[in-house]
Amino acid sequence: MAKVINVNLSDKCYPIIIGNDSLSKTVQKINDLSVSKCLLIVDQNLIKYHSLLIRKTFALLNCKVYSFPLIAIEKNKSLTQTEKIYKFLSDNSFDRNSIIVALGGGVTGDIAGYVASTYMRGIRVIQIPTTLLSMVDSSVGGKTGVNFNDQKNMIGTFYQPEFVSIYPEFLATLSKRELLSGAGEIFKYSFLADNRNYNLLKNNLLKLFSSQSFAIEKTINACLVIKSNIVENDEKEITGLRKILNFGHTFAHAFEVESNYKLKHGEAVIGGIYCALFLSEILGYITSDKLNSILNDYKFIRPNKKLASLNMDNIFNSMGSDKKNSNGKKRFVLVEDIGKIVVDVVSEKSMILRSIEKMNNLIWNSKTV
Ligand SMILES: NC(=O)c1ccc[n+]([C@@H]2O[C@H](COP(=O)([O-])OP(=O)(O)OC[C@H]3O[C@@H](n4cnc5c(N)ncnc54)[C@H](O)[C@@H]3O)[C@@H](O)[C@H]2O)c1
Repeated sequence: MAKVINVNLSDKCYPIIIGNDSLSKTVQKINDLSVSKCLLIVDQNLIKYHSLLIRKTFALLNCKVYSFPLIAIEKNKSLTQTEKIYKFLSDNSFDRNSIIVALGGGVTGDIAGYVASTYMRGIRVIQIPTTLLSMVDSSVGGKTGVNFNDQKNMIGTFYQPEFVSIYPEFLATLSKRELLSGAGEIFKYSFLADNRNYNLLKNNLLKLFSSQSFAIEKTINACLVIKSNIVENDEKEITGLRKILNFGHTFAHAFEVESNYKLKHGEAVIGGIYCALFLSEILGYITSDKLNSILNDYKFIRPNKKLASLNMDNIFNSMGSDKKNSNGKKRFVLVEDIGKIVVDVVSEKSMILRSIEKMNNLIWNSKTV
């Protein structure tokens, strides 16, 4: 039986359906919408691994189905790629009674959501995430976007899907590296709620990192309950609450850009979270004892070695252009304790560089499981 989490926003409520019958539920729900046409924006790797399942599933739709294969790399999360999809929609006379289905990871979901939100001033979109990262995070909450001018997600919209459908079996073909990248966002969620969630997510992450089977649906569920609560209370990042979802991300986006996207998003997030933890201690938000206990709890997750070769000044400059920073000041999401997050903390350059240095030291000074 599929599990359902409802996201209740002021002008839209939508379900997240999680479970092994989520695809049949997806077909039923799209048929209920009586759409004229459906475009699957589908990750090419999904076609490679799951073409039969995809064909069998979407053959059951009552409308004409088109497919637009996407090579899911950061460089394709671009306006150039967006334009190609607009052209496809326009050439095939898609209109506001049509629907887009995003079938892939965060890259596919972000660009498909952006296209859906802007084509003919908005057509409906369904998110079917297929990576761990997109299942626990990016498919929910309505942030869409593409990269521009070497800046992550610089062009984008807030645009909620009709529903999100999570079929955990897709993860069977995901590489170990991508699974561990997804772990980066789970690592983030462990800090955002309370000690119960911290322990639950930490224990499941330990199993994931030591290649043991772990409660995947419980993990997805825990992250999405936290995310939907936050999004319900600050859908468009106005009150500030939603900013806590950016924990570690001011650093992470700069790491991704500076590595020329050789670092996966989740790998950059892990490095970014450690920098944010160190900065929290340097600026006196968290005690050394608390920091050490977190470092000890998470000794099985360490930042990627590629981070150590990045140029500090370039990282610092990239951060300056992150859209989360207003007035040219670098602002950070920091932590006082588990579930106690502070946003918009301004820091001087020397402290920021010191926190990156401490994160780099952690790469070399500790072993992983
Ligand atoms: N919108 C948001 O709120 C939000 C939140 C977090 C991250 N993001 C964005 O998400 C993106 C990262 O997402 P991602 O980590 O899912 O990356 P991704 O979409 O690039 O997918 C990673 C890789 O996995 C492959 N893949 C996808 N599903 C597969 C499957 N089932 N089996 C085998 N291979 C599969 C893809 O082809 C790709 O090579 C970044 O662009 C990031 O900025 C957005």
